[in-house]
Amino acid sequence: MDNKSRIKIYEVDTEVISNNYINNDYKHLILRAPSRALDIVPGQFFHLQCPTFEGSISFLRRPMSVYQFSKKEKQIEFLYKLHGKGTRAISNLKKNNIFNIVGPLGKGFLLEENYKNIVLIARGVGLATLAPLGNLAFEKGINLTVICSARSKEHLMSIDLFNSLSNKVITVTDNDGSSSMVNLELLINNLMLSQSVDAFFTCGSNRILKLLKKLCGLNNIPGQIALEQQMACGIGMCFCCVRPFEIGNKIIQKRVCNEGPVFRISEALPW
Ligand SMILES: Cc1cc2nc3c(=O)[nH]c(=O)nc-3n(C[C@H](O)[C@H](O)[C@H](O)COP(=O)(O)OP(=O)(O)OC[C@H]3O[C@@H](n4cnc5c(N)ncnc54)[C@H](O)[C@@H]3O)c2cc1C
Ligand code: FES
Repeated sequence: MDNKSRIKIYEVDTEVISNNYINNDYKHLILRAPSRALDIVPGQFFHLQCPTFEGSISFLRRPMSVYQFSKKEKQIEFLYKLHGKGTRAISNLKKNNIFNIVGPLGKGFLLEENYKNIVLIARGVGLATLAPLGNLAFEKGINLTVICSARSKEHLMSIDLFNSLSNKVITVTDNDGSSSMVNLELLINNLMLSQSVDAFFTCGSNRILKLLKKLCGLNNIPGQIALEQQMACGIGMCFCCVRPFEIGNKIIQKRVCNEGPVFRISEALPW
């Protein structure tokens, strides 16, 4: 997106405040960080240096969206899924450990001045990426509707946080079938009938991207998506995170770490 979110990038040593499980699959990492690294735009990410774990070093850093941050408290938080070697190493961090991170990186979400009603649709760990956008919208007095999707009730995260920012938090799950694309489409269509929507924001899910491309196109409503892509450098040098976008009638290759990770829904291509 065309915001001025990339001001300065820092490599900083942070101190672990806590690193606790929030369910079987996800952990919540809270770090004390120097405030100079905390001029963050929602949707930006940090590149985390995984510690040595069980004798093995993860050479590449791991990209992680900022979940919460406070310059005043000198704190930054990540919500992460235990996935492979790197995130397992991060999960082993203990209180007072030193943890090296680089950021803030990439371009974040853009809240236009005229936005009065926005809709956030997040699935799984995508909630982590959209949470700080929720905070910013709340601060700016923008009405928020949040649709949270997950495998099961137990996997719905940050509901209390979103409830504190919005009186319209809708949860859908795979278990009861409410997260199906048919139901989601119905839900969003009903929402658009009952109120105006200035923009949609989402993260990660291919199926939700496809649905929002259709609904944004039909209703002429803008949307933004934070994309995930495997990354090596995270700062635009190696081109390993390039993916295609449709701009006008042309396919243009862009680096997710540098031109994104937030892009217009109209330009992002499903995968
Ligand atoms: C901009 C951005 C923001 C992200 N934010 C979050 C977040 O807030 N919470 C969260 O849980 N996850 C997030 N991810 C995904 C997270 O980076 C991967 O789950 C993590 O890198 C996996 O590392 P691993 O060593 O555990 O897994 P492995 O599979 O062992 O990783 C092997 C390699 O693949 C890369 N990789 C694997 N999966 C992904 C992926 N989905 N995206 C990018 N690279 C991947 C790793 O960086 C590593 O180089 C984000 C990814 C991106 C690009
Ligand atoms: S990760 Fe190296 S250019 Fe994007």
